[in-house]
Amino acid sequence: MAFESLIVLGLVATCCLIAPNDASLVFRARNRSMSAKPFKVLITHPEVPQSGIDLLKEHCELTQVLSLPPSRAELLEKIKGVDAVLWGGHSPLNAEALDAAGPQLKCISTMSAGIDYVDVAEMKRRKIPLGHSPTVLDAAVADLAVGLLIAAGRRFHEARRKIDSDNWESYHLNWLLGQDVRDSVVGFFGFGGIGQAIAKRLSGFDIDQVLYTTRRRIDQETEKELNAKKVDFDELLAKSDFVVIASPLTPATQGIFNATAFNKMKRTAVLVNIARGKIVNQNDLYDALKSNRIFAAGIDVMDPEPLPPTDKLLTLDNVVVLPHIGSATTRTRSDMSTIAAHNVLRGLAGEPMLSPAY
Ligand SMILES: *[C@@H]1O[C@H](CO)[C@@H](O)[C@H](O)[C@H]1NC(C)=O
Ligand SMILES: *[C@@H]1O[C@H](CO)[C@@H](O)[C@H](O)[C@H]1NC(C)=O
Repeated sequence: MAFESLIVLGLVATCCLIAPNDASLVFRARNRSMSAKPFKVLITHPEVPQSGIDLLKEHCELTQVLSLPPSRAELLEKIKGVDAVLWGGHSPLNAEALDAAGPQLKCISTMSAGIDYVDVAEMKRRKIPLGHSPTVLDAAVADLAVGLLIAAGRRFHEARRKIDSDNWESYHLNWLLGQDVRDSVVGFFGFGGIGQAIAKRLSGFDIDQVLYTTRRRIDQETEKELNAKKVDFDELLAKSDFVVIASPLTPATQGIFNATAFNKMKRTAVLVNIARGKIVNQNDLYDALKSNRIFAAGIDVMDPEPLPPTDKLLTLDNVVVLPHIGSATTRTRSDMSTIAAHNVLRGLAGEPMLSPAY
C-alpha cells in the first residue's frame, strides 16, 4: 500500500514540477498571438477544486459554469469557442456539447475515473483527446468499499434501526449476528486499480482467498501478492462470501448482476458495489435482499442517482446505501482536479495526456 501511495504521490509531485515547463514551451511558441494567454479553457462546474484551476490560470484564460447545480444551458453557452474543457461533474459529454464548442476544440479532461457519461465514439470520431483521473481515487474508494463490506456484513443499518425503534434486545444470545471477514473468500467482479487496492486492504483482515473475474488475467506477481485467482463468473458467484463489484459499466456488464446471478450466490453472501449502479439489476437486487436469497448488500452507487427517498430499496434492513461518496475526500478531489488540469495542459501542448482515457 505504502508503495502504491508513493507512486501516486510521486506522479502528482512530478507533474506539478513538469507541467509549467511543458506549458511555457507551448506558450512561447504561441506567443505570436495578441493575447498573453492564448488558450481559452472552460471549467464546467463551480466547485472544481482550486488546485487544478490555479494550474490552468497561469497559462489559460478561464471561463467557468457558475450555476449550481450546473445548468446545461450555461455550459452550452460558455463552451462556445473554447480550446479545451476541464469537465467537472457528470453532465453528458456528447455531440451536442462538442457541436456547441466548435471545431477549434483541442482536448477535454474529466475529473472522474468512470467516463460512462462521455460519448467516447463521438470524441474519437472527432479525434479529440480525452483525459480522466483514475488512480488517484483508488485509495479513497477502496477505503469506502471496506467500510461498506463490514457495515453490510455486520448489519450496521439494521442495528441502528433497532435503537431508533426502541428494540435494543441484547438479552438474546444471537442478536444481530453478522458475517465474518476473517477466513472469507472475497470475489471481485473487475479487478483493476480499485479492486486491487481493496484486496490489499482486506489482506490485513486475514481473509482466506481472493477470486476475480476479468477479461484478461492480471500479472502473476500481483496475483501472488494478493493471493488472487482468476475464475469465471459462475465460480466467482458460487464461491465468494463477499462479492465486490469493481468493474466499469459497459454493454457487457450492464445488468449482469440479475436474479440469475443472485441465485448462484451463497445465501450468506454480501454484495458490495462501488462501481456503477447499472451493473446491477436493482429490482432483482431488491427481491434477493427482501427474500434473504443473499445476506446483505452495501452500495455506494445505484440506479437512478439520485435515488428517490421513496425507493423501496431504502425500506430494507439488510442494505447499506451511500449517496456515491466513494472519492469524496478533500485530498482525493484536489488530486483529481490537478490531474485533470495537467491532462488539459498537455492536450493543448499536443502532447500525450498524463491519464489518457483512450
Ligand atoms: C509572451 O509574451 C509576453 C509579452 O508579449 C511576455 O510577457 C511573456 O513572458 C511571453 N511568454 C512566454 C512564455 O514567453
Ligand atoms: C441475467 O443475465 C444473463 C446474462 O447477462 C442472462 O443470460 C439471464 O437470462 C439474465 N437473467 C434474468 C433473470 O434476467
